Amino acid sequence: MEDDSGAAIHAPLAGPAPSPDDVRRMLAGVIDPELHLSIVELGMVDDVEVSPDGKVKVKVALTTAGCPLRGQIKSEVQSKVRGLPGVTEVDVEYGEMTQEQKATAMQRARWQAREDAEPTEVLATTRVLAVASGKGGVGKSSVTVNLAAALASRGLTVGVLDADIWGFSVPRMLGVEGRLGGAEGKIHPNTVEVPNTLDTNGPAGLLKVVSMGFLVDDEGTALMWRGLILTKAVEQFLNDVRWGEMDYLLIDLPPGTGDIQMGLARMLPQSELLVVTTPAVAAQRVAVRVADMARRSYLKVVGVVENMSEFVAPSGERFAVFGEGGGKALADEISAPLVAQIPLEPSLSEGSDTGRPIALSAPDSPAGVAFHELAAQLVDDLAPPIEMAGCTARILELADQAAAKT
Ligand SMILES: Nc1ncnc2c1ncn2[C@@H]1O[C@H](COP(=O)(O)OP(=O)(O)OP(=O)(O)O)[C@@H](O)[C@H]1O
Ligand SMILES: [Mg+2]
Repeated sequence: MEDDSGAAIHAPLAGPAPSPDDVRRMLAGVIDPELHLSIVELGMVDDVEVSPDGKVKVKVALTTAGCPLRGQIKSEVQSKVRGLPGVTEVDVEYGEMTQEQKATAMQRARWQAREDAEPTEVLATTRVLAVASGKGGVGKSSVTVNLAAALASRGLTVGVLDADIWGFSVPRMLGVEGRLGGAEGKIHPNTVEVPNTLDTNGPAGLLKVVSMGFLVDDEGTALMWRGLILTKAVEQFLNDVRWGEMDYLLIDLPPGTGDIQMGLARMLPQSELLVVTTPAVAAQRVAVRVADMARRSYLKVVGVVENMSEFVAPSGERFAVFGEGGGKALADEISAPLVAQIPLEPSLSEGSDTGRPIALSAPDSPAGVAFHELAAQLVDDLAPPIEMAGCTARILELADQAAAKT
């Protein structure tokens, strides 16, 4: 005999009806096929009822009501619970998780992914921000280098990993060149010092930059490598570069949701995504795919950056050249905050071509101000989730330093 999900039904095992706790213990063995953790641990078991004649009713809260894997969860629940003596029938009812339940489940899954990931050269104390977008040309690289520069001008040490292997542009935008050095089998990043403008007496900031552009002579050579080493290259950048101490690591991702993004999620599950989009509302649909990828790989979306927002003329007049509302619409759709609106500014583009990011060359321009505000927000308001191992490690480290000084 088979039930509607195709699972074989065995004759019930004799015995008195089990308690709801007995049932929950069995359910702990049901693994959510998407999040790879027990449905009990993920808080998906809403309710368990057992009637005196051994009929069990389990209410399972799904991440989304239409979850395509619900049939699989149901048959797993049924076969596990039927293994308990005294169970005569198992009924599975579906519900949908509340926002809060979902957040808790994702936090749990993220924590687990981090536990499972092999260590890389990126220290646990480094906050990783990956800059992503659904399509190309929306300003990921511009956001990466300017945000990195703005963070460094606060006296922070900031890594910049150009993970756009064949479309690398970070070296040109930051005006950094030269082959990467190395010692003892490890690659050393190229570095640029950035004056501390937040506290002029404070320590200077530092950018540590790694890009395919430092390994090949031109973009043509990089193209020839395409497919052969692409995902491996990012893996090597994470494993073989001696990154050392860094407050932040910013990763400029290639557009879309391909292998590089998935590899990053696997290797650095602590990464938080900044999703860049343009104000055109149509662009939002493509960007939503990035958020879907983030959910599937348990990455947290820290915020949406709308780039090329209205152009502010010297007269103060504003022009929405590329439309408006795209950033807000995307943020609402994926339940993430809209953290910045970077205006369209011709000098931003010029700064990229001359290797002087606008955040450093014209910090008081509208775009310059927007990047510095984004940096301040990330440092002060959008602090990493408390569960982040690096956070605790950093607090302990600071406490140790303070103790050593007294
Ligand atoms: N706010 C802005 N104002 C004016 N020009 C901008 C702005 N943002 C980006 N640009 C220009 O738009 C072009 C694309 O930007 P950028 O290279 O940063 O995008 P990208 O998303 O990294 O592109 P790709 O997908 O090709 O890597 C560049 O020429 C850049 O200088
Ligand atoms: Mg780019």
